[in-house]
Amino acid sequence: MKTYPNCHMPDDNYVHPYHDLNGAEVLITGGRGTLGAATAEAFAKLGAKVWCLDVSPVPASDSPNIVHRQADVTDRASLEKIQKEIAQGPGLNVLINAHGIQIRTDFAGCDEETWMKLTDVNLNGVYRSCQVFGSPMRQKGGSIVNIGSVNGVVVSGKGTPYGIQKAAVSFMTKVLAVEWAPAVRVNAIAPTAIPSNMTSDLFVNSVYLEKKLPTIPLQRIGSTEDIAHAIVFLSSAASGLITGHTLVMDGGISLI
Ligand SMILES: NC(=O)c1ccc[n+]([C@@H]2O[C@H](COP(=O)([O-])OP(=O)(O)OC[C@H]3O[C@@H](n4cnc5c(N)ncnc54)[C@H](O)[C@@H]3O)[C@@H](O)[C@H]2O)c1
Repeated sequence: MKTYPNCHMPDDNYVHPYHDLNGAEVLITGGRGTLGAATAEAFAKLGAKVWCLDVSPVPASDSPNIVHRQADVTDRASLEKIQKEIAQGPGLNVLINAHGIQIRTDFAGCDEETWMKLTDVNLNGVYRSCQVFGSPMRQKGGSIVNIGSVNGVVVSGKGTPYGIQKAAVSFMTKVLAVEWAPAVRVNAIAPTAIPSNMTSDLFVNSVYLEKKLPTIPLQRIGSTEDIAHAIVFLSSAASGLITGHTLVMDGGISLI
């Protein structure tokens, strides 16, 4: 874990009781992706049992506390099959929607096929996942965290259709926070570009980083740990009074 001068870092093994997720059942869509996998590790470290759902093939073996299932958020039946399996146990306490795809295009250049594909995964996929996995959580209570994007908060470069879907995810977050209160808290995060499979085309280019860094007040690129820790916070008792919120995680870029 990296340390930063503006963050007091406690002992590596310290777990605040409000972050203790011992015994919690967590499902992460896009659980094999860069941010999903880092988040799964963070939850497992805090004692949760994590279901990682992804369209990509499952690994040869599961790790302790983390089980993998293959499913496609554009295919409701594949999600329902996993929910059936989960319902045989104690049920979910936490749902994290961390799946997503990016096709960089401006609005005018976005053809119908690209628009539909992006929307079906980035927006409709969150709708299906919340209905299938989130809705049953209303019985015993729980928490949902959706991964939006800073592209859904401010308009920046080529990422417009994606940004529109992420803005809709933030609004869905507000709607569900009201509809499913008080049983379920629903929040979102809106990160800036974090090195991942999705952004490898950006970070492969050193010019991108050279141009980007001076625009960030905190003068650093976010890490997968930054994201995982914020998601754990929004899922845990530490954020008990927070619902309907989209937490912008951009080192301050959108402030200036
Ligand atoms: N990395 C960033 O800079 C960044 C910034 C803001 C928001 N986000 C969001 O964070 C989330 C995670 O992105 P990441 O950076 O880890 O990218 P990633 O490509 O590493 O992970 C995305 C995962 O989603 C899975 N996925 C795609 N389509 C799916 C489908 N139809 N059904 C099930 N799973 C599917 C992929 O297989 C992949 O494992 C996404 O929602 C992304 O939009 C990422």
